[in-house]
Amino acid sequence: MSLIRTPYGFASTAAEVAAGIDLAGRRAVVTGASSGIGVETARALAAAGAEITLAVRDTAAGQRVAADITASTGNAAVRVAALDLADPASVAAFTTSWDGPLHILVNNAGVMACPEQYTPQGWELQFATNHLGHFALATGLHAALAADGAARVVVVSSTGHQTSPVVFDDVNFAFRPYDPWLAYGQSKTANVLFAVEATRRWAGDGITANALMPGAIYTRLQRHTGGRGSGKVPPELIKTVEQGAATSVLLATSPLLKGVGGRYFVDCNETPTIDRRGDAPALHGVARTPSTPAAPSGCGSTRRPCSPAPRSLRPWRRHDHHTESRPDHGRHPGTRPGAGRRAGATPVPARHRLPDRTGSGPRHPRRGRRAGRRRTGAR
Ligand SMILES: NC(=O)c1ccc[n+]([C@@H]2O[C@H](COP(=O)([O-])OP(=O)(O)OC[C@H]3O[C@@H](n4cnc5c(N)ncnc54)[C@H](OP(=O)(O)O)[C@@H]3O)[C@@H](O)[C@H]2O)c1
Repeated sequence: MSLIRTPYGFASTAAEVAAGIDLAGRRAVVTGASSGIGVETARALAAAGAEITLAVRDTAAGQRVAADITASTGNAAVRVAALDLADPASVAAFTTSWDGPLHILVNNAGVMACPEQYTPQGWELQFATNHLGHFALATGLHAALAADGAARVVVVSSTGHQTSPVVFDDVNFAFRPYDPWLAYGQSKTANVLFAVEATRRWAGDGITANALMPGAIYTRLQRHTGGRGSGKVPPELIKTVEQGAATSVLLATSPLLKGVGGRYFVDCNETPTIDRRGDAPALHGVARTPSTPAAPSGCGSTRRPCSPAPRSLRPWRRHDHHTESRPDHGRHPGTRPGAGRRAGATPVPARHRLPDRTGSGPRHPRRGRRAGRRRTGAR
C-alpha cells in the first residue's frame, strides 16, 4: 500500500490547506479550541463556512476565541460548549446534549508531561484526558457521526507516541515508576490505535478516523515542562500554530482524504510505519506496536495478533534497574499510595472495548478505583 501524498508540507498553514474548500452546511466540533492549535484549526474550518462548536473546559476563554474567529472569518456560527475530557460526566453531558448530524470531530485537546495525577475514577490524567475522554466523546457522538454517512474523526496524536506503547497491564503506573513522558507517549499511542479501530468498526457508517502529529509548536502544552517540549527538536523544525493546525485541517477537509481512514500523518502527508525510533526523519514515522498493523505503510491497514513490543518501545528499558519481575513499589513513596497492592493488575482492555455500531455505548472506568491516589484539581 502506498503512502498518501499531498501538495502540502511542513510549512503549509491551515488556511492554505482549506483554501477553496466549501464547508457550508457542515458541522464540526474541535476539542481544546480555547488555545493553541485548536484555535487555528477551528478558525480555518470556520473560514471555510462550517458551523463550529468549540468544546472547551474554560468556556470564558472559549467565548473570547469564538468572538475572535467570528471577527476574522465573518462566520457567526461559532458556539462554545463545556467539555472536560477528564470528567466522564462532562463528556456524557456534551454527547447527550448534541443534536443532529456531526460531520467533523477534531479530537485535539491534550495535556503533556503532567506531574503524576489521577482522576477521581483512578485513571492517570494524561491517559484519561488524551485518550479516554476522546474515546467516550467519539463513541457518544457515534450516532451523530453516522448520520452524515461520510463523517471524519481527526485524532491529534504526537511523535511522543514512539516513547511508549499502551501498556495494557499497567496503564496506570501501578507497577512501574510514573514517568510523565511515558504517560504522554502511552496516551498518544492510544490515540493512534483509536483511529485504526474506529475506522475498522465504523466503516459501515462511512466514518473515517485518521491520526496525526501536528509538529513542534510552542503553545500552552508546554506548561508543565518550563515552556519547552522534549528539548530534542531543532529550531528549524518549530512551526507556527497556523502551520501546526494544517495537518488537522487537511484530514478534516481535503478531498484527497475522502474514504481514507486508520492512517497517520505528519506535515500533511502520510508517514511510514517504523520498527525503531530514528528509522524516519525527526518527528516522522508511526511506531509499530503490539496492536498496530503489520503492513509496511500507514497505521491502518491489516492487523496482526499481539506480539511483544519491539525492544526500542519497551518502557522499562528506561529504568534498567527495574524488571518486569521486580516492580519497585517503594521508589516514589509519596506518589504511590497503591504500593503493596496485589501482584496481578486487572487487564484494562475489557473495560475499554470500543463499541461497534450496535454496541451499547462507551463504558467508563468504575468509580472510586484506587481512591487513595492523588486526585486531579479543577484543571
Ligand atoms: N504543541 C506541540 O508541539 C504539539 C506536538 C505534538 C502534539 N501536540 C498535540 O496537539 C494538541 C493541541 O495541543 P496544543 O499544542 O494546542 O496545546 P494547548 O494550547 O495547551 O491546547 C490544548 C488544549 O487542550 C485543552 N485541555 C486540556 N485538558 C483538557 C480537558 N481535561 N478537557 C478539555 N480540554 C482540555 C486545553 O484547555 P485549557 O486551556 O483549559 O487547559 C487546551 O485548550 C494536543 O493533543 C497535543 O498533545 C502538540
